Amino acid sequence: MRAGARIVVIVGTLVVAWGCAAISGQKRAPEPPRPGAEFHNLKIFSPNTTHDELIANMRGFSRALGVRCNHCHVSTMDGAKENFDFPSDAKPEKDMARTMLRMSERVNADYIGKISQHRNNVTCDTCHRGHSVPEVTPPPPPAANPAPPPAANPS
Ligand code: HEC
Ligand code: HEC
Repeated sequence: MRAGARIVVIVGTLVVAWGCAAISGQKRAPEPPRPGAEFHNLKIFSPNTTHDELIANMRGFSRALGVRCNHCHVSTMDGAKENFDFPSDAKPEKDMARTMLRMSERVNADYIGKISQHRNNVTCDTCHRGHSVPEVTPPPPPAANPAPPPAANPS
């Protein structure tokens, strides 16, 4: 049953892909935090997300939006050192990011996942592409006569 085996593999891959997004926790009953869990105000990510996974996701958010951690997290300057209060929800951008996580999860589960031939899920990069507010203007039309490529360096 070769075909059967292949289907199992594909389904397995999808589950892993969504699981990796760390936003699939929404669908399951909330995991109880293990004793000594490091993070204290996670409403989307599993409370047992490891430090490395969480920080990798946070770096991904920052890159996708072209911002630094303080775009979403409250920080104070203590002399030259920036101190963060990561669990605080005081900055509205943090809650907006939660809404965006829920939206992306829903789009992937209910729409993209149903038609994707390339296993491409929607991510923050899909829309943001380095801007905190995505650009809304369409790209310029392609030039009618594209400029010739620059001459090769004389050798
Ligand atoms: C686009 C907004 C955004 C950016 C930028 C961002 N974060 Fe976050 N961060 C969040 C959200 C949203 C949560 C809460 C996730 C949840 O509720 O599951 C969070 C949670 C955290 C937590 C867990 C706090 C706790 O105890 O609950 C840490 C630590 C953290 N972020 C660190 C960082 C670091 C370090 C950076 C910069 C590299 C960063 N974040 C950049 C949105 C952001
Ligand atoms: C389907 C496209 C789309 C996706 C995917 C998406 N966003 Fe957004 N996001 C938007 C749009 C459009 C806005 C601007 C809304 C407005 O007009 O204020 C926005 C606004 C935001 C804002 C508030 C604007 C600001 O000044 O910071 C944050 C924070 C944000 N997105 C974070 C995220 C994160 C984190 C992800 C990935 C989990 C994500 N977005 C995925 C389209 C998207």
